[in-house]
Amino acid sequence: MGELLRAFLPPYRKKTLTGMACKAVEVVFDLITPMIVARMIDSGVANRDLGVVFRLGALLVVLALIGYLFTFVCQRLAATVSQGMGTDIRDALYHHIGELGAADIDRFGTPSLVTRVTNDVNQIQVAIAMGIRMLIRWPFIALGSIVAALLIDARLGLVFLVCTPAIAAVFWVVMGRSIPLFRAIQVKLDTVSRITRETLEGVRVVRAFGREGEEERRFALAARDQTDTAIAVGRLSAVLNPVTFLIMNLGVVAILWTGAYRVDAGSLTQGEVMAFVNYMTQVLVSIGYVANLVVVFTRGSASATRVMEVLKEEPSIADGSLNVSQADINERAVPALSFEDVSFSYGGEGERALSHVSFELPAGSTLGVIGGTGSGKSTLASLAVRLYDPVEGKIAAWGEPLPTYELKSLRSLVSIVPQRASLLSGTVRSNLSWRKPQATDDELWEALSCAQAKDVVSSKEGGLDAPVEAGGTNFSGGQRQRLTIARALVGDPRVVVLDDSASALDYATDARLRKALKDLPNHPAAIIVSQRVAAVMSADQILVLDHGRVAGLGTHDDLLRSCDIYREICLSQLKPEEVGA
Ligand SMILES: Nc1ncnc2c1ncn2[C@@H]1O[C@H](COP(=O)(O)OP(=O)(O)OP(=O)(O)O)[C@@H](O)[C@H]1O
Ligand SMILES: [Mg+2]
Repeated sequence: MGELLRAFLPPYRKKTLTGMACKAVEVVFDLITPMIVARMIDSGVANRDLGVVFRLGALLVVLALIGYLFTFVCQRLAATVSQGMGTDIRDALYHHIGELGAADIDRFGTPSLVTRVTNDVNQIQVAIAMGIRMLIRWPFIALGSIVAALLIDARLGLVFLVCTPAIAAVFWVVMGRSIPLFRAIQVKLDTVSRITRETLEGVRVVRAFGREGEEERRFALAARDQTDTAIAVGRLSAVLNPVTFLIMNLGVVAILWTGAYRVDAGSLTQGEVMAFVNYMTQVLVSIGYVANLVVVFTRGSASATRVMEVLKEEPSIADGSLNVSQADINERAVPALSFEDVSFSYGGEGERALSHVSFELPAGSTLGVIGGTGSGKSTLASLAVRLYDPVEGKIAAWGEPLPTYELKSLRSLVSIVPQRASLLSGTVRSNLSWRKPQATDDELWEALSCAQAKDVVSSKEGGLDAPVEAGGTNFSGGQRQRLTIARALVGDPRVVVLDDSASALDYATDARLRKALKDLPNHPAAIIVSQRVAAVMSADQILVLDHGRVAGLGTHDDLLRSCDIYREICLSQLKPEEVGA
């Protein structure tokens, strides 16, 4: 929590201090009120002097009004500071997550990042607001009440010195047991929301497979678990009120009892006894609030730790400084992309998703990548656009290692069509112009036409301004794929990586897409990943992947002769006369 406050509190320091100062004024007023009431009883009521009663009554009203004004200012400042800081923390988190590499995000997991940006920041906001409003108030009221009581009469004050620690001890024991449970509730809540999210996202599949029953049971189990913990906390807290009230009322009995004798003996006034009882109540109430504060701060600081974990994560993909323009690139005679003995595994160690992969992709040429499921094709594609860095080996673009490039520059030169087509809510235009925000309509249509997506867009009402719903759900799978291909082509990339991007296209459309790519004036080099031989057989080179290793690299004819795996794949998908050779 401290670290987070050091980072985000400074802009709000003045407001926070003012808010706390306002609260301090309120505390002083609260502390003198019982004294005034005592005076009212002793000089007013006892002497039947209505004038004194009214005068002191009016004073109480004035104090209450002024106190109200200060409270109002404090609440307002607390709200401004907590909301403002919450927004700042969210912005910082969002910005930082954007800078993290794919490997870092894998490590946290998307659902956890979502919870951190939303729920955890909320907890922090609550803690900050409570801190401003309560941190000054209740501890000081408790202390002040005790001191005031002791000043009135030290002997009667002994009752305080016995009751207060007793009540505090009860809170200590109960809180000590509940706080770990509160933490557990948070974690269990995470599980409940994860299951909810999973099931809702996959609701169609769940229905199609008739798994509603299982999913309900899974949810019920998690919800039950969370409920049980919450009930356990409830049971503990249920002890709190009766016990503390018992102690307090015993204290009041003691005060009235001994107070009565002292009043009789003339060493104490009735008003002072009343003041004692009032201070006693204030102490009790404040201990309750302090306990509440402890809970809120515990939750807040757990959340702050989770937020700081993300903010302190160094992006694993460090930005370089090399800024190369498309024009420079066109001049170079080196391969557009080269892999040199590249190995990679997710999470750094463990099983290799790719091992010892080498190839060169000359400018303007095409490389087909084929291999079974899980053979490392998508991994190769992600490495080529530097979503991850290889564990071993070197990847270079136009002769320069990828890490030397400024990411922005690299991404404008090398574009990817990911295996899972993803569109964001907005319009067709807003989705297509990611790579080049100022792209003209002509450029967008050109990309659409190359991606065989012209009809998709022109048949939608609004054309380029047709709405796209979150996740692109108002487009079919194939239409989404074509739109993401068009998006990758906007802004004239020099290398395009198509990761199984034509899987939802029919053979004829797929063939037209490849031809259109080749026919582009100044066409980019392309890596075409596919499980279909037909999609890669006409490529300049074909890389055959098998369990992350290169099983063959060459042209279709070469591979038919030299690579058993390739020949097998061909014969399983094509008629012998289509295979050729
Ligand atoms: N984010 C990830 N975290 C951990 N392991 C992963 C991750 N992505 C892929 N893998 C593993 O890496 C290996 C290669 O996966 P990859 O996605 O590259 O296969 P692929 O050839 O693209 O398969 P497909 O044809 O099904 O798309 C697989 O064993 C997979 O389990
Ligand atoms: Mg894949």
